[in-house]
Amino acid sequence: MSTTFTPEELSSVAALKAKYPEPKAAIMPVLWMAQKKWGWLSEDVIKEVARVMDLPYAHVLGVASFYTMYFKKPMGKHHVQVCTNVSCMLRGGEQLYKHAKEKLGIGHNQATADGVFSLEEVECMGACGGAPMIAINETFYENATASQLDSLLDARR
Ligand code: FES
Repeated sequence: MSTTFTPEELSSVAALKAKYPEPKAAIMPVLWMAQKKWGWLSEDVIKEVARVMDLPYAHVLGVASFYTMYFKKPMGKHHVQVCTNVSCMLRGGEQLYKHAKEKLGIGHNQATADGVFSLEEVECMGACGGAPMIAINETFYENATASQLDSLLDARR
């Protein structure tokens, strides 16, 4: 598979760079764009981001490595995040995470063999008022329950 941005995507990269006084500050949205396109940030994808950002590979790798939202290995089509930080823990987040592990048969930062799901135990996602919360890709579900999680996963199989 090609790991080169299309001309249209390069226009989007240029537009992102133009939003910041220092173009290199666009590295995070450009890494996010790359992850959306290729699913995860392989060495070749990080090289492509370094090329279009005109930054050293090591710099881009450093940013990608620091933030857990950037995948450094292939993950599932549906990435399930369960928060177990304090507010969520106090409202059943840990039980919800245990339920998700058992239901999917995988653990933290693992993907199912068919590539449909991956699972991540996460720290606070900023939705404490709706604890416990889960996210599937970029959609948040607050006041989540085990049966709701089952329905959400079953609907995606
Ligand atoms: S503690 Fe779970 S969203 Fe804040």
